[in-house]
Amino acid sequence: MKDDFITIRGLKKSFGKNEILKGVDLDVKEGEKVIIMGSSGSGKSTLLRCMNRLETSDHGLMFFGERQIDLAHWLKKDIKYVRSNSSMVFQGYNLFKHMTVLENVMEGLVQCKGIKKLEAKDIAIHYLEKVGLSERLDYYPSALSGGQQQRGAIARALALQPKVVFFDEPTSALDPELVAEVLNVMEKIAEEGVTMIVVTHEVGFAKNIADRVVFMDRGYICEEGRPDQILRYPRNNRTKEFLNLIA
Ligand SMILES: Nc1ncnc2c1ncn2[C@@H]1O[C@H](COP(=O)(O)OP(=O)(O)OP(=O)(O)O)[C@@H](O)[C@H]1O
Ligand SMILES: [Mg+2]
Repeated sequence: MKDDFITIRGLKKSFGKNEILKGVDLDVKEGEKVIIMGSSGSGKSTLLRCMNRLETSDHGLMFFGERQIDLAHWLKKDIKYVRSNSSMVFQGYNLFKHMTVLENVMEGLVQCKGIKKLEAKDIAIHYLEKVGLSERLDYYPSALSGGQQQRGAIARALALQPKVVFFDEPTSALDPELVAEVLNVMEKIAEEGVTMIVVTHEVGFAKNIADRVVFMDRGYICEEGRPDQILRYPRNNRTKEFLNLIA
């Protein structure tokens, strides 16, 4: 594993009077797969959103690749740098409804990366094949299952060839029988070296792919470690309670 690609120190974020992130420190190495778990409201989504400036932060420092970013005062070029080196997969599938799945994947390549349509189409087809959607290129989202839509969203995120992909509970909106197909695709891409930061409560998936599991509790990282250690022998009481709850 290479050096740290992302380092966060002292990240704080309040919404009004509620302090949601109370000083988060996180290190992620290039290529690392980090799973974030923790109870509802502990700040997992807010943490991801603060990392790519979908949300402003009140305090903190982030090294992202070679950039040093004051999280309370993002510069335009910081935002551009982080956004062009990362992509995000949300709980809802967030495909554009008026575009086919192929057009959805091409859109970012053409609009954000300035790639010509013909080349963008080849790239998009390549990534849609990877997620098992080559038979569905011309389907609109409304004609796809939730699992297929989410696989399309993953193809769209990967086609931009980001250094880091953030996933925020990518399977939690899916019917149980569709969860596995999305997790399988994620396991496959995990083998390919992209850095992944994944909020999920899928313990089996975490055991299969995670280099590290991070537990959040009420705005802090309360415990982190290797999946085989932390998922079987948690030390922190909150981690124990949480794992019992989802078991
Ligand atoms: N835009 C917002 N305005 C006000 N409060 C917010 C906002 N976004 C999040 N919060 C609050 O911040 C806290 C943490 O929310 P967050 O979505 O980060 O939690 P989470 O760990 O992702 O939870 P879940 O597992 O339910 O997704 C919650 O109490 C939530 O109500
Ligand atoms: Mg969340």
